[in-house]
Amino acid sequence: MIIAVDGPTASGKGTIAKQLAAHFGLPCLDTGLLYRAVGWQVSANDGDHDSEADAVAACAFPDELLENPELRSEEAGGRASRVSVHPGVRKALFERQRAFAEQPGGAVLDGRDIGTVIAPDADVKLFITASVQERARRRWLEMTGREIEIPLAEIEKDIVARDARDINRKDAPLKAAPDAMVIDTTAFDKDQAFEAVLEAVRDHLAQNP
Ligand code: DC
Repeated sequence: MIIAVDGPTASGKGTIAKQLAAHFGLPCLDTGLLYRAVGWQVSANDGDHDSEADAVAACAFPDELLENPELRSEEAGGRASRVSVHPGVRKALFERQRAFAEQPGGAVLDGRDIGTVIAPDADVKLFITASVQERARRRWLEMTGREIEIPLAEIEKDIVARDARDINRKDAPLKAAPDAMVIDTTAFDKDQAFEAVLEAVRDHLAQNP
């Protein structure tokens, strides 16, 4: 069974993907981390994130880079969003993601284009979203918890900019697949969000055995 979990930044899709993977006993791939590694490697190469050639060259990043906790930072997210607009980068990362999706037994993948491009054949497609204000609040709480001081307004501005770049890029933009279940978690805490997702997935599987 392949489960595709897409959605904008800070929507909670990563947490939901991991919870689904644990629930169904499936491996999970955070595809955003691959784009974050490419963005990171461009900086390490002293390259330009807006240059497609520099970004494609950075797709040969070493696998150990995926373990670097700094890839989770806001800065790394912004660089990832910039390199992800290049079609050459998306092409270079396609096979790795597709192979993960096709492994025997299935997998959960989370990202922006899983249900539309990487696994249009997924058995379950979810699009997890929440309001900009709520996503900013969650990100702010998470960062404050890590003792990173940043004004809420700055996070909100960054989220709006990232959404715009992810939605408006020509190649594989962020959007819900026509057959995706859209779940808005604005009014939910983490447990309620997972409950809503699990109920939707169970209903979907019961109707599509
Ligand atoms: O999910 P994330 O915040 O780690 O993703 C970082 C950036 O990577 C995001 O702004 C856009 C890009 N990305 C993408 O284009 N396609 C994906 N499947 C995953 C992430």
